Amino acid sequence: MVDTQGELILILDFGSQYAQLIARRVRENGVYSILARPNLPAEEIRRLHPKGLIFTGGPASVYEPNAPRCDPAVLELGVPILGICYGMQIACQLLGCRIDQAENREYGRAKVDILQADGLLAHLPSSMPVWMSHGDQVRDLHDDLVALATTPTCPFAAVRHKRYPLYGVQFHPEVTHTPHGNQVFANFLYDICHCSGQWQMGSFIEQTVEQVAGRVGTSDRVICGLSGGVDSAVVAALLGKAIGDRLACIFVDNGLLRKNERQLVESTFLEHFHVDLRVVDAADQFLSRLAGVDDPQEKRRIIGHEFIAAFKGAAKTIPNARFLAQGTLYPDVIESGKALAGEAANIKLHHNVGGLPAELGFELIEPLRMLLKDEVRQVGTLLGLPEKMVWRHPFPGPGLAVRCLGAITRQRLDILRDADEIVLEELTAAGLYRKTSQVFAVLLPVRSVGVMGDGRTYENVCAIRAVETSDFMTADWSRLPYELLAVMSSRIINEVRGINRVVYDISSKPPATIEWE
Ligand code: XMP
Repeated sequence: MVDTQGELILILDFGSQYAQLIARRVRENGVYSILARPNLPAEEIRRLHPKGLIFTGGPASVYEPNAPRCDPAVLELGVPILGICYGMQIACQLLGCRIDQAENREYGRAKVDILQADGLLAHLPSSMPVWMSHGDQVRDLHDDLVALATTPTCPFAAVRHKRYPLYGVQFHPEVTHTPHGNQVFANFLYDICHCSGQWQMGSFIEQTVEQVAGRVGTSDRVICGLSGGVDSAVVAALLGKAIGDRLACIFVDNGLLRKNERQLVESTFLEHFHVDLRVVDAADQFLSRLAGVDDPQEKRRIIGHEFIAAFKGAAKTIPNARFLAQGTLYPDVIESGKALAGEAANIKLHHNVGGLPAELGFELIEPLRMLLKDEVRQVGTLLGLPEKMVWRHPFPGPGLAVRCLGAITRQRLDILRDADEIVLEELTAAGLYRKTSQVFAVLLPVRSVGVMGDGRTYENVCAIRAVETSDFMTADWSRLPYELLAVMSSRIINEVRGINRVVYDISSKPPATIEWE
């Protein structure tokens, strides 16, 4: 476990869609935070020595019979508590307040007037916009509680306990629609929990390097599979710093990569980081196995199988390989139920294509297990990885196979690669790469008639897919400017032989998915 300067904020998750966002806000303030299930026993919480607790919002009503609850003894631990929305209501209910449906539900922007401008609500304007999302509200405030803020329809928009270090806000300080929300977190973390805010990515790197160097023996070797994505790249850069040439990286070129992807990995890790990088040229193998296959699931099955075979083959050539390093992140740890969050966490659908089976027989090193995606990017930047790699949009394990619809041939892959490169070049030139979540070209298995010069053409159709999402579980299509789409389209049709028509995908997920296959 990385030393967090002894400062931990424990977030009891009552099922909020914003739980990870709260964790991020706390970490942005330099304090380490983790999510836990709401009913974690008070004794267990005491053993973790948190500097503070945050109760999240949640979709239930506190008066429903199966609503998530916390151990009432938590209120008496003496550890400062901040309840947000449902979290405030559950704390107030435990203290004897009545909670029921509000006559006026508040969803969206509201204006709060601050009644006590100190403690939790210090350094804020006397009236400020906040984001509300509640149908219930606290009714009769118990004598032990004091109202700190109010809205025209919510008399107890923020409260404080007279004796316990317990605070509640009915609004959501974690979302950007509450512009002064960060000040509320800063007040809670520094003034109420007395945190010093030492959690920084620089010290994370130092500590992780020290730990890995201590764990890996002088004759042991660590294998790390590179995918071209940011997580595995950061793991490799971090391990390279810790153990130098005892790290061996494997990159499988499956013939389904984006344009210049292999070169980017090679130039970064061979030339810049001087890592022992084994590039397995397996394109022939993958493409011959995929020949004539057009069913998406069958494509995935073949690719998964071939990947494991190629990886195993390369791993065998590395003597004394004892460890396998993986880029598991904190959200993966929560979602697979291994964290304190337990069953309460959402289970995300995992595509395991491109992954490795557990029975490879290596001990695992997962240095990013505690980090959120933004923090991984910060670590990558601090380690000197190129911006192109740090900010890369995600790319599926089966690669271009699921973007080259229908049968896969080298020629069709080359057409797709060229079109995709143009899409990404123009997106970047328009300054929109970092503002979009995933953007790419798809080659459709249809041909259409066109006219070029004086001749009739009968060529492929290419679709442009651009989405915005925070979790890739749901996504909205990006409203890319028409001018940008026009440039992408005309460049693709002029420069890529084999495409004579470009269409734009305007479907959201659900009901569509991000990838086309
Ligand atoms: P969908 O298409 O399901 O994609 O909306 C959600 C996210 O997952 C990626 N994706 C995959 N990743 N193996 C992967 O490693 C796969 O088989 C796979 N299929 C989709 C997709 O690119 C998007 O980021």
